[in-house]
Amino acid sequence: MQRVLFVTGKGGVGKSTLSSATAFKTSKLGYDTLLISTDPAHTLSDLFGIRINAEETRIAENLEAVQVDVVHEVTKHYAEIMEFITEVLKARQIDEIVAYEIANFPGITGAAALLKLLRYLEEGTHDVYVLDMVPSGDALRILYLPFIFSRFSRKFMKLFAPFIDFGRPLASITNIPLPSREVIETEVKLLDMLERIHALITDPKVTSLRIVMNPDAFSIENAKRTLVQASIYGLNTDLVFINKIYPEELSNGYLGDWLKAQKEYLARCELEFSPIPIKKVRLFSKEVRGLEAIESLTNEVFGEEDPAKVYHESRPIEILNYSKGFEIVVRIPNVKKEDLEVERFGDELLVHLTTEIGRSAIILPLPAIAYKYSMKRAKIINGELHIYFGEVDE
Ligand SMILES: Nc1ncnc2c1ncn2[C@@H]1O[C@H](COP(=O)(O)OP(=O)(O)OP(=O)(O)O)[C@@H](O)[C@H]1O
Ligand SMILES: [Mg+2]
Repeated sequence: MQRVLFVTGKGGVGKSTLSSATAFKTSKLGYDTLLISTDPAHTLSDLFGIRINAEETRIAENLEAVQVDVVHEVTKHYAEIMEFITEVLKARQIDEIVAYEIANFPGITGAAALLKLLRYLEEGTHDVYVLDMVPSGDALRILYLPFIFSRFSRKFMKLFAPFIDFGRPLASITNIPLPSREVIETEVKLLDMLERIHALITDPKVTSLRIVMNPDAFSIENAKRTLVQASIYGLNTDLVFINKIYPEELSNGYLGDWLKAQKEYLARCELEFSPIPIKKVRLFSKEVRGLEAIESLTNEVFGEEDPAKVYHESRPIEILNYSKGFEIVVRIPNVKKEDLEVERFGDELLVHLTTEIGRSAIILPLPAIAYKYSMKRAKIINGELHIYFGEVDE
């Protein structure tokens, strides 16, 4: 059984450090491990002090790393399709430069990484694949891309497939170029691959998403949004890391207030990410660079644990779809029935509630579809908070 571990989070929180630690540990446990970076900044090379490029490079026993060469991947797999989309847009009198920009839609770099991952998985080159994701809020959209892309492709093919053989005369009438057989064949292949990868990344036995954050408002906010998106996309988030926690000895110094704030954030995280297990990682006294530093961080973070295991399997937040609305189900531990108050502020919900640890408030980012609907009611059923959204009343 192969395992895929995606590590994501806001910029600079420690994704590369913790994905390296994860990969280092699984390699020590004897799994053939591949650490994949999609980051063009060559962070892994800096981290390990070994040059890592588009070829798999050996870092330690059982451990290899590879940098996805986006330009290379895109040229190899998408050139024809991009060329075609560009032609279509140009025929509609869209400026060529703009057409190229559109054809090169965001996420294509991530898609390249996913396709590369699929090749590794299908060839079964390694036991564990750890993906150090790009530092953007769109990281997850990339994971969802196979789904979007395959929908898009289906439409695309339905539209053009019937004309392939007789297409040329039609092309001259409509002035819209038709895809060549080659493009269609590439399309079909791509579609197939994307469907296969979608199946793999939404299988919790194969793929886990791990979110890294720091104990500060922005990165926690980002992490929560990621968790909601992951739920929508059907990815299993089985572990969160809160990294760069200040040590207790700073409590009386200049950073005392920071430490106090961090403690409050940590307490809130326990509630907001529950029941997903949380790993707290202290801020080391210096940057984590080189194998030795990674090894000591790894031992502290994972101890005797096997990071390839599935830490947790369930969706703390679930979003159910109806034809005229949707429902959010939030599993909150030990929430009491009375004393629940839900307010909506734009694209967020503020939920006041009383739990075992006292009265608290959680902020819940809403899925994008919420803009169409208004909140109807909220209630607690068997320890789950159910919030219904329906059509806006006239
Ligand atoms: N627990 C820690 N203690 C000390 N330094 C840390 C810790 N975690 C990460 N760092 C340092 O913080 C910096 C950022 O870490 P890292 O590169 O892993 O973050 P990232 O999330 O991958 O960043 P990017 O978004 O740029 O890819 C690095 O200098 C790293 O050594
Ligand atoms: Mg990084």
